[in-house]
Amino acid sequence: MNTVEDFHKQLNEAVDFIKSKVSFEPKIGIILGTGLGSLVDGIEMTGTVDYADIPNFPVSTVESHAGRLLFGTLKGKPVVCMQGRFHFYEGYTFQQIVFPVRVMKALGVESLIVSNAAGGMNPNFKPGDIMLIKDHINFFPGNPLIGPNDNNWGDRFPDMFEVYYCKYLEIAKIVAMEQGLRLQEGVYVGLTGPCLETAAEYRMFRGFGGDAVGMSTVPEVMAAHHQGTKVLAFSIITDMGLADNMHPCSLEDVIGTASKAEPRLCNLIAGCVVKM
Ligand code: HPA
Repeated sequence: MNTVEDFHKQLNEAVDFIKSKVSFEPKIGIILGTGLGSLVDGIEMTGTVDYADIPNFPVSTVESHAGRLLFGTLKGKPVVCMQGRFHFYEGYTFQQIVFPVRVMKALGVESLIVSNAAGGMNPNFKPGDIMLIKDHINFFPGNPLIGPNDNNWGDRFPDMFEVYYCKYLEIAKIVAMEQGLRLQEGVYVGLTGPCLETAAEYRMFRGFGGDAVGMSTVPEVMAAHHQGTKVLAFSIITDMGLADNMHPCSLEDVIGTASKAEPRLCNLIAGCVVKM
């Protein structure tokens, strides 16, 4: 098991390396999930660092994911973006999944924006909708905070009060209104995948209070909250998981719907960044 000293050693090696490549202090971290790729077009880039070069950084297994950190300004705000993220279903440990979130904090990041693709369980949702995540249910078989804890970094028993930062929820709603965008809000259920859910599972998660279900985000958000990073998160509803109205759902459907929603989500996030 990693000790607190191991954690800091690994973190410092990664951070020192990144700082030797880019001298830039980001304030906002962005995890470019499915349907957020083109946010990059709005960034004035100051530097990039490949994951593969960063000591102790996990490396993307999915070939279509570039796997690099992008540094630059978005709407004048200094940001660092993760192009390529890590999922539990790929075989990473929770510690690996959240390592980049730890690195972001050490680089100066104070706020984290996350996006994902999710299956909608709320019958008022439609594929292509964007959902503001106002809370989550951790249905992963674990938690990235398990293990030795450095109390100077974050609490041993962090509460989950306003894990999705209240002011950012307000900002997102205001920006959506200004942009004339239909913004859903709801509870995200995070679980391992890679299977989508059975009808019985969708019914259960809906009964638990979930509005959407997906395979990411929750570990990163827990780590961010633990270390005092303020979180704003969105799901693109790519398919519907309605227990009494099941349909086949392919990866092509998910990706196709996500790309249609992408310009709306990118605009929304750019609008939020201005006010953050
Ligand atoms: N379930 C889980 N993850 C998903 C889904 C879903 O229906 N759609 C996109 N990601």
